[in-house]
Amino acid sequence: MIFKEFRTKWTPEIDNFLKKHLEQEINNKTMSQIMSYSVMAGGKRLRPLLFLATVDALDKRISEKEIRLACGIELIHTYSLIHDDLPAMDNDDYRRGKLTSHKKWGEAEAVLAGDALLPLGIQWIAQASNSAEIVEIITKAVGVNGMVGGQYLDIDSTNNASVADDTDLINEMEWLKTGCLIKACVEMAIVYSNVDDLRKDALLKFAQDFGRSYQIYDDLVDIVETPEEAGKMTHKDQKNGKNNTLTMLGVKHSQQKLRQLMEHAQKSLKILDSSVLSGFLNLYQKVL
Ligand code: IPE
Ligand code: IPE
Ligand code: MG
Ligand code: MG
Ligand code: MG
Repeated sequence: MIFKEFRTKWTPEIDNFLKKHLEQEINNKTMSQIMSYSVMAGGKRLRPLLFLATVDALDKRISEKEIRLACGIELIHTYSLIHDDLPAMDNDDYRRGKLTSHKKWGEAEAVLAGDALLPLGIQWIAQASNSAEIVEIITKAVGVNGMVGGQYLDIDSTNNASVADDTDLINEMEWLKTGCLIKACVEMAIVYSNVDDLRKDALLKFAQDFGRSYQIYDDLVDIVETPEEAGKMTHKDQKNGKNNTLTMLGVKHSQQKLRQLMEHAQKSLKILDSSVLSGFLNLYQKVL
């Protein structure tokens, strides 16, 4: 199967599960509506698809349990976007082609929707995996030594000229805020499925490069795409004083770095022979 077919097959399953269970499992109907508004706004479902594609590459069947775990990841990712957009953070008005949560529902409501999505996501992952090891992988990846730590470095380095050329700090910030969660999708699938060391090492190398590359891609989206294409405001990172690989290296060298990471990631995948996993990297063609 190729990536496009895989995505076409599983995206509706992810969407249906999310819609149904956000309706069924949340007692307060308004909270359910607020949380669903952002979750169902139409993200690419990259992280749940990556978990499922890795499970599939390791010859495990995908059933409702695996969908629940995948959807738990999407809840956590959506929480991170709602909080990232808040006035105290990036102060954005549009996300996934719609008004951001705080613009639509109010700031307190958006904070609480994020607060609620994070533990619900962890709950779904725990229920589906029945594995303390998997819960540890996801909580570490989005915690203070993972995504939240990266978001702190992002905020701390915004409008801060002294870090503009600090390669180590910018690499660390981008890895933590975005790379960690993407790598965790693959790591969880590895623990979930039985896998030999050879394929495990190859998958981890792929996940490292893909995770690292994703924020470089996202920063290029800000320069290259229109708001309609991106579903969020573009051309605003520089105005907002963001320091990242793009502002440090410029567009050309960022694209070059992205291409290098893509090639490296493709190499790691060779022994897995999964056209679905290699297909994830095609997403980058739009910004190259
Ligand atoms: C955007 O993530 C934010 C980052 C962590 C870079 P996505 O590009 O996956 O956004 P959605 O889920 O498709 O909206
Ligand atoms: C977001 O990075 C990283 C997260 C952990 C949410 P950005 O701030 O660049 O993401 P966008 O551009 O708002 O989607
Ligand atoms: Mg941000
Ligand atoms: Mg942002
Ligand atoms: Mg961005």
